[in-house]
Parts: sequence; C-alpha cells; structure tokens
Amino acid sequence: MNLEESSELEIGFGYSCILFKLANIYPTKKFYGVDIENKCFIYDSELEKYKNVKLIQGDIREAIKKFPVYYFERIHIYFPSPGPKQKRYLNKDFIQTIYSYLKKNGTLKIVTDEVNYFLEIQASIMATNFVIVPWTALEFIHNSTLLVSTDCEKKYNSKFFIECKKV
Ligand SMILES: C[S@@+](CC[C@H](N)C(=O)[O-])C[C@H]1O[C@@H](n2cnc3c(N)ncnc32)[C@H](O)[C@@H]1O
Repeated sequence: MNLEESSELEIGFGYSCILFKLANIYPTKKFYGVDIENKCFIYDSELEKYKNVKLIQGDIREAIKKFPVYYFERIHIYFPSPGPKQKRYLNKDFIQTIYSYLKKNGTLKIVTDEVNYFLEIQASIMATNFVIVPWTALEFIHNSTLLVSTDCEKKYNSKFFIECKKV
C-alpha cells in the first residue's frame, strides 16, 4: 500500500458488496471491503476475477489501523447496522478517524434508513472539518431511483444520505 495509489474502502459490505461493480469500471484502482461478520467467502468467485478487490473480516475500528492515513480516495458506508448487536460505530470519534484516512479532496458517502442514526451522523460530520457536498451518483447507477442499489436499499424504503469531502 502506498499513498500514490488510488483506493476506495467499503465498510460493512454485507451480502451486497458494491466494490466489484466499481472494480469493473476502474480496473487499476484498489478496492478494500471490511465487514465484522464472516461474509468474505460468499464473494470467492468475484475475488478470483477481480484481483484489485480485497475483503477483510474484522471490526472496522481495528481494521482501519492497518491502512496508512491519507490513503483512501473514497469511503462508502451503506446501511450501517443501527442495532445493539454490533453497536453503532459511526460516532464523532470514528468519523474523525475516517477523516484522517482520506486523501485531500477524498469523499465519504453514507446512506442509512434510520433517521435518528442519520441525525447523529450528520451532527458528528458537522463537528469535523468535513464539508458537506451534494450527493454524486455512483458510476454504476443508471436510470434508477436507487442511490446504491444494495440489498438493504431495496428492502427498506426510507433512506437518508450524506456525502462529505475532506478539503
Ligand atoms: C445492514 S448491513 C448492510 C449491508 C450492505 N452494505 C447493504 O447496504 O445491503 C450492515 C453490515 O455492516 C457490518 N458491520 C456492523 N458493524 C461493523 C463493524 N464494526 N465493522 C465492520 N462491519 C460492520 C455488518 O456485519 C453488516 O454486514
């Protein structure tokens, strides 16, 4: 891993990892996914095909420390678990941590169906140096009302979204 590389991270990819769609569009970029549950194996056939995608099982609060700071161009978090099972990791401290792992002009994109979690996340973002920017469509979304087209987005109707940039 070096700071010159173009790289993206998806946190909590679940059963609906978007990284393979992006890897198809950007074959020279590096894509990393981290999920706390053992879900990497379900992507074995895609991982064979896309050598620029790496999936890691682990808690993102620990796993992120294995990357260099200023490393990611874009970080994706779609439908982060809001429940008590894995605890909400998107608090003020962790959003500040994410900020440090982004390159300058790097972006953080979050979608959730939980309004209260969204309000907490928004307040945490506003307490950092992130600048909130208009949502930019993902490259693989065409003619759709869906933002990210993950399983959770298809399952839950209401959704709240935010994109912010490290300036
Ligand atoms: C509700 S699912 C969303 C899956 C997918 N992004 C989607 O939109 O369909 C949330 C995912 O986040 C993962 N997760 C929860 N806490 C985590 C943590 N601390 N670190 C990494 N992944 C986590 C869960 O295991 C789960 O796969």
